[in-house]
Amino acid sequence: MEKSWLNTARDVYTAKERELIGVGHTAHARSFFRRHPAYSPSPLRPLPVLAGTAGVASIQLKDESRRMGLGSFKALGGMYAVARLVRAEAEERHGPRPTEEQLRAVAARTPFVCASAGNHGVSMTAGVREFGGTPIVFLSEDVPERFAHRLRSLGAEVRRSGSDYEQSMAAALEAAERHGWRLISDSSWDGYTAVPLDVIRGYTVLFDEVDDTPTHVFVQAGVGGLAAAAAGYVRDRWGERPRIVVVEPQAAPCLLVSAREGRMARVEGGRTVLGRLDCREPSLLAWRLLSRLADAFVTVTDEEAETAARLLAAENVRVSACGAAGAAGLLSLQPATRTALGLGPDSRVLAVGTEGAL
Ligand SMILES: Cc1ncc(COP(=O)(O)O)c(C=O)c1O
Repeated sequence: MEKSWLNTARDVYTAKERELIGVGHTAHARSFFRRHPAYSPSPLRPLPVLAGTAGVASIQLKDESRRMGLGSFKALGGMYAVARLVRAEAEERHGPRPTEEQLRAVAARTPFVCASAGNHGVSMTAGVREFGGTPIVFLSEDVPERFAHRLRSLGAEVRRSGSDYEQSMAAALEAAERHGWRLISDSSWDGYTAVPLDVIRGYTVLFDEVDDTPTHVFVQAGVGGLAAAAAGYVRDRWGERPRIVVVEPQAAPCLLVSAREGRMARVEGGRTVLGRLDCREPSLLAWRLLSRLADAFVTVTDEEAETAARLLAAENVRVSACGAAGAAGLLSLQPATRTALGLGPDSRVLAVGTEGAL
């Protein structure tokens, strides 16, 4: 398995991609969050020592560890998607500008369900509880108990099912279909895209908070939602020049393999400590965007991500190994990939510290 893949299918951003992800959708999501009491832009941390090590002009890390008080960037996705769904249903029933009471009544009609590697469930739960609704979160056996505990403390019912993310997703989907519950998935597939599209649009808000144009964006991926948010938003706002690099665990490189094969692929994968990135199949929407808009796909080992987390801590930024995986992608690039991506002393890198230290 190669460590990197330069995207031979890279193409320009068109109206087709803008319809999915673009600055117009971001403006809507950002105005939603501006009205939310827990919202404030996350800090951008300069990493001068790491930039020296990587031989670039600067590295700025978007530090998502305190986002909405929920610990990761995922807070922007599930919460936004729940609010949009509740509002849409309420408008259908009651017409435009539904009251708070009508929104709560709509939310109470049936539970909201998702599968999660941890953070998405937290986000959905927080969003559902704001309307007084019932959140149910399916976790696979390998999701750490601390996430289950956190979810329960936020008001979710937690159900353990399956041994990986895909199996917990199948269980969530089956329960949603059987009981008529509302599925709030952060992944998407043929016939199920509306909710996950809102999830990705919510994530774009974090890039909207950045003022300066980067030359390179390194972003870690599980099913690819965050990376797709980066790709669509960056192309619409900053054009074709910034290079977008998608970083996956060596144990689960579903986007890299899909790009290499030119079609959405499933990988068998091995074990990894990068639990939130341990996804075997891309999200369909993410694949649609990244297959054309990303410049490269690279993998990192657990050790590389853990080393990056230590280096970030030395610069006073505390993120988990998952949270450091984007930066690890930059630090572990092979020389040929580095050259192909035009990385050098003038490069200004943007990376995302997706979650705090665990
Ligand atoms: C901390 C963290 N980083 C990155 C990701 C990857 O996001 P996506 O699955 O949208 O690619 C996740 C997903 O759960 C996550 O929790």
